[in-house]
Amino acid sequence: MDTKYKQLIQQAIEIRSRAYAPYSQFQVGAALLTADGQTFCGCNVENGVLGLSLCAERVAMTRAITDGVRDFSAIAIAANPAATPCGSCRQFMIEFNPEITVIVVDADNCESVKVFQAAELLPDFFRLQK
Ligand code: THU
Repeated sequence: MDTKYKQLIQQAIEIRSRAYAPYSQFQVGAALLTADGQTFCGCNVENGVLGLSLCAERVAMTRAITDGVRDFSAIAIAANPAATPCGSCRQFMIEFNPEITVIVVDADNCESVKVFQAAELLPDFFRLQK
């Protein structure tokens, strides 16, 4: 495990137990580290109207944004089996930092870690000119 992100990984694994995933049974936890050292956690939240389901990553990011923090530096994602973020979450995190470090971990084996940069997961990503 990358020791630099050990704590973040543990937080992602722990928050995963809060997932509300009665339809997929696929629990995901995410822990977002911001540039000022804060951590914001999220889990997936499903709904009987399946398209309304929220991914753990976007829950974590929207919690940070709601608290006024937009400078994202890393996000750890825990699931079993390990899951790289969906396309929507990739686009969502790139809005705030194309270079955010994405740490994907197997929730049942925290030694199994893959590290990416968001832009590498979504080449030629879309950006609306402001
Ligand atoms: N999910 C996440 O929360 N994050 C991912 O990176 C992949 C998928 C959730 C959405 C849904 O609740 C369940 O996993 C199955 O797709």
